[in-house]
Amino acid sequence: MFKVNENYLKLPGSYLFSTIGKKVNAYSAAHPDRKVIRLGIGDVTQPLAPAVIDALHGAVDEMGRAESFHGYAPDLGYEFLRNAIAEHDFKARGCEIAADEIFVSDGAKCDCSNIQEIFSLDNKIAVCDPVYPVYVDSNVMAGRTGVYNAKTETWSDVIYMPCTADNQFVPELPKETPDMIYLCFPNNPTGATLAKAQLQEWVDYANQKGAVILYDAAYEAYISEADVPHSIYECEGARTCAIELRSFSKNAGFTGVRLGFTVIPKELKCGDVALHSLWARRHGTKYNGAPYIVQKAGEAVYSEAGRAQLRQQVDYYMSNARYILEGLKAAGFTVSGGVNAPYIWLKTPDGMTSWEFFDYLLEEVNVVGTPGSGFGPSGEGYFRLTAFGSRENTVEAVDRIRGLQGI
Ligand code: MLT
Repeated sequence: MFKVNENYLKLPGSYLFSTIGKKVNAYSAAHPDRKVIRLGIGDVTQPLAPAVIDALHGAVDEMGRAESFHGYAPDLGYEFLRNAIAEHDFKARGCEIAADEIFVSDGAKCDCSNIQEIFSLDNKIAVCDPVYPVYVDSNVMAGRTGVYNAKTETWSDVIYMPCTADNQFVPELPKETPDMIYLCFPNNPTGATLAKAQLQEWVDYANQKGAVILYDAAYEAYISEADVPHSIYECEGARTCAIELRSFSKNAGFTGVRLGFTVIPKELKCGDVALHSLWARRHGTKYNGAPYIVQKAGEAVYSEAGRAQLRQQVDYYMSNARYILEGLKAAGFTVSGGVNAPYIWLKTPDGMTSWEFFDYLLEEVNVVGTPGSGFGPSGEGYFRLTAFGSRENTVEAVDRIRGLQGI
């Protein structure tokens, strides 16, 4: 008789955004006359930029001709894309990252859950609390997290680094030494950032302890303040301790197109073993590369026209963020984030739990957000709204929330 991977049975409930999706679909089915505004999952709403569409059309035509047809992509991604990434995302920011240290993939969600495979099960992970749930859940599936405590909603073998209003939602160096440290800045879900000197402290700490930092920079395009690093490789010493994960979902609206990449510098080693070689082996064995047409679309993101068009798109979402932030502040909510990130983190009113506030908003004003407790125990009493809606829906949602009686 076959056996299943019992680690999966330890997972409490379903994936956060699947749970929300089910609840909202059930509500909409029961109330077909209501217009529900979804500011829950961080999914984009603006169409792909014209430069990206042109590149997609061109690549599709190439695929239709024998002389320009492309089969399997190279393991690590096409050079035209890796060169563009190295040039614009790293060299232009003074970071020393070579094209062959970049692994192109179909998105950061897969990479940030798969990357743990190249590490021993004995490693102890540290995560911010609240945190993007994929980091913890993927380690649960691997069997790295110990026993779940339903009361505290924590795992025995995970080091939680609380990010609360008391520390401006910025994690402190943990007392217990971790082996793998997950950091995401600008942060999902709180929208908080680390200044360069703060990130440098983490890099120094990781190098001193022999830990690896898994740095999720999916939201770097939303940075508006000068002292906030776009890449961990802006810090000295990061090449020996950090892996960076990047996405095209948020900066270029590729949530439905799927493209991302992971950077592993060649100096990042455990003894004599380079993590770059392990990930290259894994990539070669388990992955056949993002489609040619998608990688051509990714290349267009870095063209002059693409960059200008996407700057406008990011500005569009950030003006939504400002509208939410200012509107809710004026209504008396305690809010943060939304300045260097497309997420607004608000304290639930009247001592409501995160899920109580979720139900309240859904039922009273038909607005969907994400309960903070879904991101971890320190998220309880908080709620996340995304700026990725259309302008019209964002304005309507904020106006509806502001109109609530008794808040
Ligand atoms: C979120 O809402 O946290 C993100 O959209 C989820 C994701 O990027 O996978």
